[in-house]
Amino acid sequence: MILKGKKGLIVGVANAKSIAYGIAEACHAQGAQMAFTYLNDALKKRVEPIAEEFGSKFVYELDVNNPAHLDGLADRIKKDLGEIDFVVHAVAYAPKEALEGEFVNTTKEAFDIAMGTSVYSLLSLTRAVLPVLKEGGSVLTLTYLGGPKFVPHYNVMGVAKAALESSVRYLAHDLGAKNIRVNAISAGPIKTLAASGIGDFRMILRYNEVNSPLKRNVTTEDVGNSAMYLLSDLASGVTGEVHYVDCGYNIMGMGDVATDAEGNTILAWDAK
Ligand SMILES: NC(=O)c1ccc[n+]([C@@H]2O[C@H](COP(=O)([O-])OP(=O)(O)OC[C@H]3O[C@@H](n4cnc5c(N)ncnc54)[C@H](O)[C@@H]3O)[C@@H](O)[C@H]2O)c1
Repeated sequence: MILKGKKGLIVGVANAKSIAYGIAEACHAQGAQMAFTYLNDALKKRVEPIAEEFGSKFVYELDVNNPAHLDGLADRIKKDLGEIDFVVHAVAYAPKEALEGEFVNTTKEAFDIAMGTSVYSLLSLTRAVLPVLKEGGSVLTLTYLGGPKFVPHYNVMGVAKAALESSVRYLAHDLGAKNIRVNAISAGPIKTLAASGIGDFRMILRYNEVNSPLKRNVTTEDVGNSAMYLLSDLASGVTGEVHYVDCGYNIMGMGDVATDAEGNTILAWDAK
């Protein structure tokens, strides 16, 4: 058991389709003990049974935009678990109207909400748990290819993910002095609650499936297993990284699927 004796905090479970659920599942299978958070009362009743499923009765309310929630976090963790070895930040939000239409029309309000909830929260959460995070500990966040590259409809969330990936590098430097590692997984598209806010998400899923080297989409189990590795001592020399778990989609310079002169879908290498 790779995480036997390790303890962690999982932020970002909304339901059993959440990427954070897949991560918790993999960590639980490898012996980790975990505390969970929920955003609001509506989600509390979903997160509590999930925590129970993973043998935990430690469930805290945490809106990353609420300083009072962050202030009390380290004390609650200390009381329930003592010091912890890892933290998972699987949080993102942008107003739905900012995830369709043209990026040029993004409002200042939507921009600030997306950056605050999806980027600044990695800093504020990390700072909040630092007093109880052990030397040798690990912080992990979730990002997407729409950060470094253009992806249709991802808009302001792409800009937020680019800032998140940069934040990972700056945090990795700062926390390196304490032997704490900070990494990101760039997951391929998965149908979750957050993803349902993105315009034409079904098209994105299908496009990734047909154009990735593995010819399928990733699952929360795929992401969970890779996350478990990055959270564990197996990755003791890895920090500041963005690790792609996307069936290889990000390596493609050109897709497999194209259209011929008549508009029929064909394999790109059959194009005349
Ligand atoms: N689903 C995908 O295709 C995909 C791909 C790559 C990266 N990601 C990233 O993975 C992470 C998890 O998303 P998911 O796809 O599992 O969706 P999800 O909806 O299951 O999880 C998003 C979580 O963010 C939480 N959240 C939103 N606002 C919050 C706030 N103010 N305070 C605390 N929590 C808040 C929600 O409660 C929810 O638990 C996100 O960062 C997302 O951008 C998702």
